[in-house]
Parts: sequence; structure tokens; C-alpha cells
Amino acid sequence: MALSNVHLTPQLIQAVRDSIDILDIAAPHTRLEKKGTRWVGLCPFHKEKTPSFSVDPTQGLYYCFGCGAGGDAIRLHMLTTGDDFPAAIESLARLNGIPLPTSGGARSSDGPDLGAVLEAAAELFTGELAKASRPREYLAQRKIPAEVIEKFGLGYAPKSFDFLLERLSSRFERKDLVSAGLLSTKDEGDRARAWDRFRDRLMFPIRNGSGRLVGFGGRTLGDDRAKYINTAETDRFQKRTLLYGLDLARRSAREEGTLLLVEGYFDVIAAVASGIEWAVASMGTALAPDQARLLSRYAEEVVIGYDGDRAGNEACRRALPILLARGLAVRRMEMGDGEDPDTVRLDEGEEAVRRRVDASTDFVASELDRILPGHDPDPPTVARVAKEVRELLGPIPDPVLRFGYGRRAADRLGMPPDLLFQRHQPRSAGEAAAPRTVRKREVTSLEERALQLLMSGEIALPAAADLPPVDVFLDGICGNIYGHFLDLYREGTAPPEAGAVLSALSGQGEELDRIARILLEGESCSEKLGELEEALRRLNRRWQQNRLRRLALEINEAQRQGDADRLETLVEEKTSISRVLHEVEPGPQTL
Ligand code: UTP
Ligand code: MN
Repeated sequence: MALSNVHLTPQLIQAVRDSIDILDIAAPHTRLEKKGTRWVGLCPFHKEKTPSFSVDPTQGLYYCFGCGAGGDAIRLHMLTTGDDFPAAIESLARLNGIPLPTSGGARSSDGPDLGAVLEAAAELFTGELAKASRPREYLAQRKIPAEVIEKFGLGYAPKSFDFLLERLSSRFERKDLVSAGLLSTKDEGDRARAWDRFRDRLMFPIRNGSGRLVGFGGRTLGDDRAKYINTAETDRFQKRTLLYGLDLARRSAREEGTLLLVEGYFDVIAAVASGIEWAVASMGTALAPDQARLLSRYAEEVVIGYDGDRAGNEACRRALPILLARGLAVRRMEMGDGEDPDTVRLDEGEEAVRRRVDASTDFVASELDRILPGHDPDPPTVARVAKEVRELLGPIPDPVLRFGYGRRAADRLGMPPDLLFQRHQPRSAGEAAAPRTVRKREVTSLEERALQLLMSGEIALPAAADLPPVDVFLDGICGNIYGHFLDLYREGTAPPEAGAVLSALSGQGEELDRIARILLEGESCSEKLGELEEALRRLNRRWQQNRLRRLALEINEAQRQGDADRLETLVEEKTSISRVLHEVEPGPQTL
């Protein structure tokens, strides 16, 4: 579907949310059977034989207890169609006859769409590349073959502040160029100035999985401090939901069953130039869960070809549990210090890139090798390492696979495999019970239970002003959910409904997964005001204890620096927190 200039108002999103039935959206993708108030079926997002996909039409939520995918009806539509958020709202609104407001206000919905603006810019950029010798020399020096340049639609944004402004002004309005992220703007008194955002840059068109142009990345060819700049993050262009090159990679990825995941634009291009068509980039270092989900839609296995520097290695480790949790097998491509796939190709040739991908080894196995101790470890080491092993293997949804790795690790630790898994699953548990056990532990965290109780709609809540600050949540995702809940509560007169919080979190994938699980897995919350108060009190207390620990460090630091004023303020804060902490009678098991 084409990008349009539909203006995403909260009212529109709410109207769409109110008009759709999540069962209608799920129906084409899985057969659901009613079980109590829920409907269950086989998960459309991963292969399974027993149903763990659950839909609650009353709350309008789905959640898979096997793979952890979850959210509301809009998100389900997005994941099954590939639509991004604005496109999803637009198509669901059209389907349900909801009128679409446009960002231009007076303009009708058949005005120019932003996709057309981006495509027009892309065409101009490729035209410029054909004419300009310097960027072509640059590409030649990086040994990028002509057919690869064409395949990726590379272009050049000339060194000018008004190239696009002039060339596109007859076809599009200036504000459409701004919305498309092609111009930078500044308000100067009552005059708004605008100029080309990309200047003297090699341009990489960025498309979503279905090939729709959503933005650009641009590499400087001059001495600009920012090596790369991208289209500004908007609903349409969110790096963490995109994988560069996926539109070109997905067919061969399906055939191959594998995707090569690299950091940068040039790494994808180097891989493709080396004959590896199934390459995509996460465009930076941190892999987001939405990107992992995309990967798992096209492949069973991911080879990580991140840079061989410290940041790259760390990013690999952070990506590992996210990929494993999607049921993906993960291999790590060998990468020397300071290398990336692009430099490997330039220094050693295309054959070397292919060889290294072929030779890449199982990442879980190498992580196990790294954390497992040598011969005859002492008992405290065994206990510590066993915990690390459990954490490493925990996200793997397939119990057989998890057990396979665990048995190897247990051998090396000189302990029976059962013992290693004891905290994971009961000794007698059948295979199917295993993933559920893992998730269960997650949902009963204090922070999640507090959110469950707050958003159940079954408890008469304290006034917004009496609820604790967002800081008491240490988990970033829970904190973000709570922050939105609190904002809505403060703005309105009554506690917000779960649906309103979901609307506010639209597009924030991880938050939606989490909230869906929290709300769907919760036991009844009615008459649990006491438990809520206790949970909030414990969160508050834990936060204040943390603050005390940090204060102690800051006080030391202030003493060392002889900063008397600061010392006084810090000590005051410490005294007042200590007083509060001691006034509150600590419960039998505080955190
Ligand atoms: P790198 O800095 O590793 O660059 O960024 P690179 O791909 O090796 O670049 P070359 O080879 O010097 O040209 C990796 C990726 O991170 C994103 C880009 O997608 C880049 O390709 N990135 C990096 C940004 O989006 N912004 C930045 O400022 C830097
Ligand atoms: Mn590079």
C-alpha cells in the first residue's frame, strides 16, 4: 500500500482500535478454538504442533506463550501483512469506513503521498550519481560493481542546500518534503527556513520488507563529522523495525533458510557483491526484538557478521538472547579485530567472505566454551557458571535443543543435567511444559504484577498523585508502560483503560509484547487492592534503598572533592530517605 499523508491523530487510532475485532484479523492466519473467554490456536509466527497462541477478544489482545509475540489487533495486522504503523491504520480505517483526516487539513486524501516524494527523490539521486564523477570514483575505489550499485539503487545527493528543494518544488509542496524527512528546517521568528538534509552524500534508499521506500541513509563523501545520517525517525521510518536489504534478501533467505546479519550498508553490499544475497543490516549495533522477529519470518538461522571490534562483539552478545528467543539458530562469523564484511572483501576477496560465512560456528556453543571453566572447577565456580549457563540457554524455546546444550555444559561442570535444569522445569515435566515455565517466571516479577493490578480495571485505584514515580520501575519496558499509564491518568479524571495505554504505546513493539503478556497471563485482580498497595510499597522501598546506595557513593565523592555544599544536600537527602525507610514497617520478606 502506498504511503500517504494521512495524519495519525489519537482519535483516528482510537476509532480504528474500537472498530476492529482482533478475531477477524487473526482468522485468516490460524484456526482458533474457544476456550473459556479466550480463543487459542497454532501461532502464526512460529512453527508449533500444540497451540500456544491465545487471543482475548474482550481486551483485544493476542499473545503466544511459545514465542512471546504479543500485542493488539493493529500489531497483529502489521506483523501478518508487513504494513508499518501508518499504513496499518490507513488500511484498517478504509476497511471499516472510518474517515481519514489528512495532515494538510483542507487537502483531500488523494493529495500527493510521501512514498511518491521519496521515490522522486531517489530517482533524482540516482540521476546525479550517473553524472557525478567523484562519488563514482569513491564507489570504484570501494570496488562496488555497477550491477550492485544499480540493484541497491544507490545515488548521490549533491553538495547543495537546495537541490531537492528546486527540483521537486514544481511537483510537491515544501511541507511534504519536510514530512518525508528530506529537508531540515528551522524557525526563525516568523520565517521558517528549510534546506536539503542530505548534501554531498552517497545515498542508500532504505526499503521495508515489501520493497516500499521508507527513507534514506547517506554517507558523507566530504569531511562532515557525521559519517552517516538517516531520515529522521518517524512512524514511517523506525530503524528498529527495519532491516536494510531485506526486500532484496528475502527470497534467497527463504531458499537458503539463513540470513546474514551485518551492521552497515556497505557490509550488506559487500556480502551481495560476494554472492551472498541473503544479507541484511540492523543499521547500527543494537538489534531490536522487532528486527529479530522479521529475521525469523524469513529464516531459521542467522549468521551474525557484526564488526570485529569491542562494540560489535558486545552487540553480538546482546543480540544472542533476542535471536534465540525467536527460535533462531545463531552462528557468529569469524571477524578479526577491526574487520567488517566490507573490509574482509576488500582485503582478502569475495571468496574469503563466503568462506568465513561457511565456516561460521554455533554461537551458543562458543559462548558455552567461553563461560565454562577448565578441569575440575570448585563448587562455588560450578554454582556460578551453572547460573550463567541457565541464563544463556533460558531464551531457547525448544526444550530438546536447550537440553542438548545443557547436557554438554553439565558434563563439563561434572553435574547431572537434571540438576542444571532444576530451576527451569520440574524433573518430571514433559517437553511441552518447558517454555511455559520460563515465561511464567518472567510474568510474576514484582514490576509486572504491579502493572497487572494497576491496569486490570478491577481495582479502585489510589489517586494519580498518590502513585509512585516512574523511577521505581527498574525494568525499562515496565517503566515506559507505567509512564504512559501515569501520564494518561494525570491528564484524565479516571484511571485509563488498558486500551488507551495500548494506543499511547502504538508502535513500541517490545512494550506491546510485554503488556499483552502481562494482561493475558494475569490471574484475577479483583479485590486485590491490598496486594497492589504492597507491591507499590515494595517497589518504592527498593528504589529508595537503591537511591541510598548511590547517595553513599556520591557522598564519598563529594567528600573526596571537598565540595561542602553538595555534601550538605546529599546528607540531607540521605537522612530524609533513611527516615522514610525506617518509618515504613518493613514487611516479612522485603526485597
Ligand atoms: P559503521 O560506523 O560501522 O560504518 O556503521 P561502516 O558501515 O563500516 O561504514 P564505512 O564502511 O566506513 O562506510 C555501521 C552502520 O551503522 C549505521 C549505518 O547504517 C552504518 O552503515 N550508522 C552508523 C548510522 O546510522 N549513523 C552513524 O552515524 C553511524
Ligand atoms: Mn565498513
